[in-house]
Amino acid sequence: MVSSEAAPFAKSGGLADVVGSLPAALAELGVEAAVLLPRYGSVPLDGAVRVFDPLPIWLGGTRYDTALYRRDRGVPFYLLDYPPLYQRDGLYGNSDGDFPDNHLRFALLARSALEVARRVFRPRVIHCHDWQAGLVPAYLRGPLANDPTFLGVRTLFTIHNLGYPGRCPGAVLPQLGLDPAQFHVDGLEFLGDVSFLKAGLVYADALSTVSRTYAREIQTSEQGFGLDDVLRSRSRVLHGIVNGVDYSLWNPESDPYIAAHYSVSDLAGKRRCKQDLVRRMGLPGEALEKPLVGIVSRFAAQKGLDLIADIAEPLAAGDLSLVALGSGEAVYEELFRDLAAAHPSSVAVRIGYDDRLAHQIEAGSDIFLMPSHYEPCGLNQIYSLRYGTIPVVRATGGLDDTIEEGTGFKFQEYSGIALWEALSAALAAWRDQDEWTARMKRGMRKDFSWRVSAREYSQLYRQL
Ligand code: ADP
Ligand code: GLC
Repeated sequence: MVSSEAAPFAKSGGLADVVGSLPAALAELGVEAAVLLPRYGSVPLDGAVRVFDPLPIWLGGTRYDTALYRRDRGVPFYLLDYPPLYQRDGLYGNSDGDFPDNHLRFALLARSALEVARRVFRPRVIHCHDWQAGLVPAYLRGPLANDPTFLGVRTLFTIHNLGYPGRCPGAVLPQLGLDPAQFHVDGLEFLGDVSFLKAGLVYADALSTVSRTYAREIQTSEQGFGLDDVLRSRSRVLHGIVNGVDYSLWNPESDPYIAAHYSVSDLAGKRRCKQDLVRRMGLPGEALEKPLVGIVSRFAAQKGLDLIADIAEPLAAGDLSLVALGSGEAVYEELFRDLAAAHPSSVAVRIGYDDRLAHQIEAGSDIFLMPSHYEPCGLNQIYSLRYGTIPVVRATGGLDDTIEEGTGFKFQEYSGIALWEALSAALAAWRDQDEWTARMKRGMRKDFSWRVSAREYSQLYRQL
């Protein structure tokens, strides 16, 4: 697997959770897997084995003397070390925006994957995740097409999010070591630029995405980000495999970050978790007697946060409290900061990335809100189910596939009114605690472990 994120090494969102946990689930099925990711500044090398140093990679006439380290977590995770490109704060950018050389950073990742495959770990399938790994199939089909090492090696490209095309100007093509003949509309050209994502979509042997509904949605012009025609042309090899979750990390019976443990047969600890969250977030004690709504999210347009702005007034006036954790686009950070400043007794916000608090919000909230504009899979609503925190979600992508009327509340139309109706239904249902508890327990019993989905991947690898 080639990925820009894998928990616990580097994480900005659900991609890291998936790549951090799927390989071990595959290993249990007898699939020998390994992962390659960059060694960012935040990834310590303690306990890592130096495997190759230097590992020279040539890209467009320039030699990059990388080094390769290995950390074992059930399966090997190979860390690609090249400080000039990866030793920075932030995975993809900083407060000034995306790093301007991301095309080089992830071309190097993709090209190195093939040298790792040549010298260190000989795969039969290379499973590439999102645009950052999109050039792997492009190198294999272009400059390396006649390299005997890779005869018979197949590629699977998984779309975790079609909204990030990985674009850069065509002028940089020579630096990437690709074949200029690949720069055309049936290749990796997208609206006059190079798109790493499109490269993956066009050149991989098979494609997948992280829920069945999203696999359908991305073939429509509404959700296709201009790539729906490419996806429709490849629909025969496009699969929808819903993400699994790692219940050894997300489980209220054993979660080390939460104030008290609880389970479907003994829910007492959940109230302690709510108390702890209310106190921690600085909300008044009365919040304990009201429904507590939680949000943990990247603050991006995808997540439907403008709908929260639309309902800000009734939300603040309602008989509920809101806690939110997230970071990202300035407009949304400001939205939540303003809400909390205007309504300090009912809204509390933390801007930033905080894994521990994310767990505490899952455990301490009554309701979890995900009004996404689009959602390839979504993991937080699945974690919420296990924590007995009822999801209120927009019926899109993986949210629609994983939440049912019996376990959560869904709305269709992308509007503040529709969101408010769904949330109001949940708030009303909360008043009947017996019915609410029954709903919590139905959700807690749902099993989204990797068992089923890892098998689907393994079948797909075999088919390839
Ligand atoms: P996406 O990958 O689109 O961000 P997912 O729901 O698939 O959405 O996964 C999000 C993951 O990132 C979850 O594990 C969630 O807890 C975590 N996460 C998102 N924002 C934060 C944050 N600010 N602090 C801690 N964890 C976060
Ligand atoms: C993406 C999607 C999210 C999905 C995650 C892991 O970031 O936005 O819906 O759960 O990838 O596949």
